[in-house]
Amino acid sequence: MSLLKDKVALITGAGRGIGKAIAMRFASEGCDIAFTDIALNDVVMETEKELKAYGVRVKAYVSNAAVYDDAQQTVSAVLADFGHIDILVNNAGITRDGALKRMSEQDWDAVINVNLKSVFNFTKAIQPVMWRQGGGSVINMSSVVGVSGNADQCNYAASKAGIIGFTKSAAKEMGVRNIRHNAIAPGFIHTAMTDALPEQVRKAWENQIPLRRSGEPEDVANVALFLASDLSAYVTGQVIHCCGGMNC
Ligand code: NAI
Repeated sequence: MSLLKDKVALITGAGRGIGKAIAMRFASEGCDIAFTDIALNDVVMETEKELKAYGVRVKAYVSNAAVYDDAQQTVSAVLADFGHIDILVNNAGITRDGALKRMSEQDWDAVINVNLKSVFNFTKAIQPVMWRQGGGSVINMSSVVGVSGNADQCNYAASKAGIIGFTKSAAKEMGVRNIRHNAIAPGFIHTAMTDALPEQVRKAWENQIPLRRSGEPEDVANVALFLASDLSAYVTGQVIHCCGGMNC
């Protein structure tokens, strides 16, 4: 069974990590993939090649998710190339961690703009498309720290908490048109973002997780597949934790 046959997904920041895993999982279910990243480098081109091996339509777009006009232009370009957009995954995100006393205004603005404003940018651009189509699924990448907070991550946790408020509001506003909005709150997932942390910090996180391991990008991709597909047709406005029980 192909869960996403004849659907088109637009995924931001999918050159690597969780976004790439989502793109691969969707493609394996017959979904055509439009994905963005900040630059078209070798890593992004390799991802495009790996996705094409699934025999679906694939195109990478350069787009800074933090920039309003980029989102508008990207959605127009994807529509022109693919004809419709059924699924939006707002995945692009960054960290600029540090204690609040040392956090600069630039570190605050960068994280809020890339993580939170991007969700506004792309959802705003896609809303008229999904409204016309009479349906769609929007999946926003939050984090467990957006629910529970985390020392040294005031900017990041605020951006991820903001995503939850946005998701619930948009779900209430657009449910009437069968446009579903849900968020995923991943815990500690093994990607380049977390590889950047010191070994003892990684180990300390893993010891607190009931399932005693960090998650893999594929674990998050499977939750995204559920939210993207008609299996979740009656699910909207929810935050699904994918964290090995870390936040239970
Ligand atoms: P990553 O750093 O491996 O990948 C992020 C991707 O987004 C990269 O390809 C990067 O080039 C792209 N990107 C960065 N800024 C961008 C921009 N302005 N416009 C477009 N693309 C941009 O990160 P990872 O771990 O795959 O994270 C993906 C999402 O999952 C992020 O929103 C992150 O906050 C979230 N997340 C990750 C967790 C983890 O443990 N890795 C836990 C909870 C949430």
